[in-house]
Amino acid sequence: MSLKPEYLNLFVNATEKAAYGASKFIGKNDKIAADQAAVDSMRSEFNKIDMDGKIVIGEGEMDEAPMLFIGEKVGTKKGQKIDLAVDPLEGTNFVAKNLPNSFSVLAAAEEDKLFFAPDTYMEKIAIGSNLPKNLVDLDNSVEKNISLLAEAKNTTPDKITVCILDRPRHDEIIFSLKKMNVNLKLISDGDVAGIIYIVDQNSPVDMYMGIGGGPEGVLAAAALSCYGGQIQTRLVLDADESVKAKKMGITDLKRKYNIDDMIKGDVIFCATAITNGDLANGIKDQKEFYEASTIALHKEGKVNTLFKNKHKK
Ligand code: FBP
Repeated sequence: MSLKPEYLNLFVNATEKAAYGASKFIGKNDKIAADQAAVDSMRSEFNKIDMDGKIVIGEGEMDEAPMLFIGEKVGTKKGQKIDLAVDPLEGTNFVAKNLPNSFSVLAAAEEDKLFFAPDTYMEKIAIGSNLPKNLVDLDNSVEKNISLLAEAKNTTPDKITVCILDRPRHDEIIFSLKKMNVNLKLISDGDVAGIIYIVDQNSPVDMYMGIGGGPEGVLAAAALSCYGGQIQTRLVLDADESVKAKKMGITDLKRKYNIDDMIKGDVIFCATAITNGDLANGIKDQKEFYEASTIALHKEGKVNTLFKNKHKK
């Protein structure tokens, strides 16, 4: 197995500590403080882990973020070489405003196996497991993608549900979906969870589409890669971001990335709920303990579990 299985529990512990850190700011209308608490806790847990870790997707670049910046080395340097994509607080507004579906999220892979996405927007289209490979494509019309998916699922467009961020930039897509009588799940934030819905047994979502954060796209790809789902992405870059992306080694700025281009081997994915949500219960703070629920996935270990752990405060 490529990633040692014992890393799963250690990474679950890191997102659980980060989620607990952020949970103290639920409903405080202070997303910066909530994010900082999550970052501090995750970093402190990482540095206890025997790994030669490197943040490849994190809280920005060295000069703009104090911790868990891209390129930051974490861990004791004793174990496996591991690249980490982290979003210690995915859904900062949800925590600040006490709304459902905030998570602390990470993905871990062997060195150079995660897509090194810049912190820009990304076009995304994702579908669940057990469907023909490369069934949908970013360059197809909305109508074509919906028809292909409906046909593959042996159903009709009015029985398909699409999750999409509720943003003016998606007005045209939403218009096309409504014209086809497709069901919508419009989310105000949090497209990592938005993409996980398509593989969640209890959720009616069949497809995710639209533009969201690039880092979130890599994290969602890590989760889908464990579930056998599919995602295709393409970076959305302005002039300055194009220069940055080139400096990062991306030569074809218009390239479409499929899941195997983004996640090249084994991967671990952990997402701990901070506020209650559709996918997991949030942090339950009790007197001496707190309880955390974590979606814990390890591709090669074939682990796909909702962990429920109690931690002493
Ligand atoms: P934060 O947790 O960093 O606030 O990100 C939330 C989020 O909704 C992501 O899930 C999503 O990818 C991105 O923001 C969308 O960006 P925008 O709000 O600019 O449309």
